[in-house]
Amino acid sequence: MTTTKKLMTLERFIHEQEHLYPTATGEFSELLHDLSVAAKLVWREVSKAGLVNILGSTGRTNASGDAVKKLDEFADETIYRAMDYSGHLCVMASEENEDILQIPEEYKSGGYVLLYDPLDGSSNIDANITIGSIFSIYKRVTPGGKGKLEDCLQQGLKQVAAGYIIYGSSTVFVYSTGRGVHGFTLDPSVGEFVLSNEKIVIPQKGKIYSMNEGNYRNWDESLQKYIQYITEDDKTTGRPYSLRYIGTMVGDAHRTLMYGGIFAYPGDKKNPEGKLRLCYECNPMAYIIEQAGGKAIDGKQRILDIKPKALHQHTPVFLGSVEDVNLCEEFLQGKR
Ligand code: AHG
Ligand code: MN
Ligand code: MN
Repeated sequence: MTTTKKLMTLERFIHEQEHLYPTATGEFSELLHDLSVAAKLVWREVSKAGLVNILGSTGRTNASGDAVKKLDEFADETIYRAMDYSGHLCVMASEENEDILQIPEEYKSGGYVLLYDPLDGSSNIDANITIGSIFSIYKRVTPGGKGKLEDCLQQGLKQVAAGYIIYGSSTVFVYSTGRGVHGFTLDPSVGEFVLSNEKIVIPQKGKIYSMNEGNYRNWDESLQKYIQYITEDDKTTGRPYSLRYIGTMVGDAHRTLMYGGIFAYPGDKKNPEGKLRLCYECNPMAYIIEQAGGKAIDGKQRILDIKPKALHQHTPVFLGSVEDVNLCEEFLQGKR
């Protein structure tokens, strides 16, 4: 009889992982489960967005000045509503809301904090290109009662979990709680996320670089030299690299995780801090990449070491295979 791969659902996996933490109360597992339900609700709308009037823009802009798409708003509300009554969170924060999001009075407040980018890559929605959702979870640091901004402005190294859902050719829930990175593919016929990639490890070195070269002329000269180096023709050192860039961080970072190489959104002369947000894009992605054996820096320091000062603050980001990020760092620091 052929040995069929054991069907491990996300729910079962979370439950089994709980036994690895002797002091686990089950609260964290329930939080992750609730998040997976929210992911399915967002997937349901994303997968039929073209059929119902949920494409296009709301005409509003968010705290970062981005145009807010209808699906941004839907995903934002869906995740908030799926998580606010769980009793596990004391506060939330989202890309689409200027201020922190309090838990409604009528619900119990819990010991965790959720930061999220409800829909990442929204400029790609109307073209049916891969988009995603990103989440980051912390233990609260304030003693009790309503969560505060201080609970949301923690260094990324304090995350207890982080991950993303990528709505692509298939929908995959990728997360880590500090014991490696695991991927679960949604089986729409049963509505379950099923383990498809246990313990994802990023290659030490890749052959792909991923950044918006449309900004090349505004980049620092050191970065321009790095791009010139990796695109030289020298087969003995695996060059030239290929350029792959879809403009959805979740898609570009997931491909970097699976194939290796480097993804970056650098700062430039016009935007020295770059475009991506530290708290709900770069910190969770950096956590995942490091948990998979990769590296994530802002050009000078580890992303996860940065102490956030504001909820929507931007940071330059260079993440991916250790050897690729190290080489890029040498150029950025003028050592090459
Ligand atoms: P969001 O849709 O959540 O605002 O994120 C968009 C981000 C990120 O997904 C992507 O890496 C980046 O914007 C692409 O920016 P450019 O179009 O400037 O390359
Ligand atoms: Mn985003
Ligand atoms: Mn977004």
